[in-house]
Amino acid sequence: MDASDMQEDLVEVLITEEQIQTRLAELAKEVWEHYEGEDLLLVGVLKGAVMVMADFMRHLPGSAPMDWMAVSSYGSGTKSSGVVRILKDLDADITDKHVLIVEDIIDSGLTLSWIRANLESRSPASVEILTLLRKPDAAKVEIDTRWTGFDIANEFVVGYGLDYAEGYRNLRDVATLAPHVYS
Ligand code: PRP
Repeated sequence: MDASDMQEDLVEVLITEEQIQTRLAELAKEVWEHYEGEDLLLVGVLKGAVMVMADFMRHLPGSAPMDWMAVSSYGSGTKSSGVVRILKDLDADITDKHVLIVEDIIDSGLTLSWIRANLESRSPASVEILTLLRKPDAAKVEIDTRWTGFDIANEFVVGYGLDYAEGYRNLRDVATLAPHVYS
């Protein structure tokens, strides 16, 4: 789905599909060099990270396995609740593995800070975070994010995996949602 298919629901396209791909390719190169020769496991957080994971891992110049977690942090609205619950845990044992969490967005940081602490308690070799988007002005907790695609303003964004009430995830770009949609 392109932004032109839903123009009336959007305010503006913030980051285009092309900009996303260019940045993911750069990040993939950096990540690959960082983990050269190590036992790397990519961990995605459902569902928002589906697009980032699919594109990021295809930019890697070699093979790396992926695994997924599902947690609940938001309801269907636009505000972070801070409540984190595991809905689906990893399939893999991450003991002694280098874990790279691949996320779509860090908003308040509450979800990732909880997930990171949870994964660190399982004796991995390391845990790092890659996120496509980060909202520095929305941070409620400090998160050490090793790789960030783009810092954005504290606005409600959809597309490229990010949803509003489970919609808009299949928009190719990242865009701001028009207030009339959610108010
Ligand atoms: C989004 C996003 C992060 C989290 C970030 O997930 O994918 O996991 O919110 O918010 P925070 O930094 O304020 O904790 P969401 O719970 O909306 O679920 P989804 O991935 O299924 O859309």
